[in-house]
Amino acid sequence: MRAVDIILKKRQGKELTEGEIDFLIQGYTKGDIPDYQMSAFAMAVFFQGMTSQETAYLTNSIINSGETIDLKGIEGIKVDKHSTGGVGDTTTLVLGPLVAACGAPVAKMSGRGLGHTGGTLDKLESIPGFRIDLTKEEFIEKVNKTKIAVMGQTAKLAPADGKLYSLRDVTATVDSIPLIASSIMSKKLAAGADGIVLDVKTGDGAFMKTLEGSFALAQEMVNIGEHLGRETVAFITDMNQPLGNAIGNSLEVIEAIETLKGKGPQDLLDLCIELATQMLLIAKVCKNELEAKELLNEVIANGKALEKFREFIISQDGDPRVIDDYTLLPLAKEQIEVKSTTSGYIGKIDAEGLGTLAMVLGAGRAKKEDKIDYGVGLVINKKVGDYVEQGEIIATMYVNDKEKGEKLVGEVLNKFTISQEKTQPIPLIYGIV
Ligand code: URA
Ligand code: CA
Repeated sequence: MRAVDIILKKRQGKELTEGEIDFLIQGYTKGDIPDYQMSAFAMAVFFQGMTSQETAYLTNSIINSGETIDLKGIEGIKVDKHSTGGVGDTTTLVLGPLVAACGAPVAKMSGRGLGHTGGTLDKLESIPGFRIDLTKEEFIEKVNKTKIAVMGQTAKLAPADGKLYSLRDVTATVDSIPLIASSIMSKKLAAGADGIVLDVKTGDGAFMKTLEGSFALAQEMVNIGEHLGRETVAFITDMNQPLGNAIGNSLEVIEAIETLKGKGPQDLLDLCIELATQMLLIAKVCKNELEAKELLNEVIANGKALEKFREFIISQDGDPRVIDDYTLLPLAKEQIEVKSTTSGYIGKIDAEGLGTLAMVLGAGRAKKEDKIDYGVGLVINKKVGDYVEQGEIIATMYVNDKEKGEKLVGEVLNKFTISQEKTQPIPLIYGIV
């Protein structure tokens, strides 16, 4: 077999066999196939696409390029959740304890933030002492004992994806649906999930900007799940404004705790309940949606979900007192109130722009090696459709460098488009496949 023939076949729009795809992926991982051939292949896929069968083969090959995590040592059906990345997306911190409190095991591998999107690991690490560098054995033991554990993804998992993703990044081949779908699904499946609930973000703050593209990506990932025998459900949810109100690591931990206390932002709670409902159904903990929603609301109301979060923090060596005393979290020294200069209805909020601002303040990384300032970020007080008075606080910036923060006030304001005409709130969920 020769790589050049496989590239030509794809360039001509023909369907590749499992063997051909595997030849490319394993050869690339080992270094036998060079970057230039893989770039040409990625570009051919970008223009010609792939059938669902080819995409499933590709996913399987990426999984087989490295080690996989065997979660058989954990009792019950393991359901993972994955978000394609958003701004202020605090769901995992709420969902994890929520689902675990209902009795379903949550064995989650999470990532770090990059660019304008945050990462669950960074948020958890803002809790003093919290440890995410678990061994596989510790991870499994903790899920069995506490029903929930979160650890960092090891480099040994789906190594072909890491290599291919870096290549796509510099060859303008990131936004190809079969390549994205196989990239995401390979990591989830290599991490041992029996079932997956996907949260495909759509809109200005997501990397899939159009509804059409987001539905297509969601469908492709569900197809992969079907081909590879893992039950998969995908939501298409809004990222035209941040989720909840907080953006930033400690700030989002507080937001998650408030939500588990039943006092969080409604959109965050609603989305968590919907995603958790599907997780409980796939995990076969509940028989139908009504039963799942009742159970989820019950564990919030009776404090069991919050209690689970406490156990989770203790299990991973964090300081559980943060739940009752937010001052134990690293919080920024200064707060800057950002006041609206006009009255009117919020028409748009530039989620990506706010995410980038939070990053500039220090909440995220521009480059992988950058250090994070856990305490900084933004809390917004208004969402699309809300009315704001001139002089009313529209957002609060949490900063350690007041001078730098003051200079960005105008930028924060610019991220809100205010209209004299009444605007409508935007939907949270566009569909489910
Ligand atoms: N996230 C991934 O993990 N892979 C992609 O290709 C795009 C987003
Ligand atoms: Ca949030």
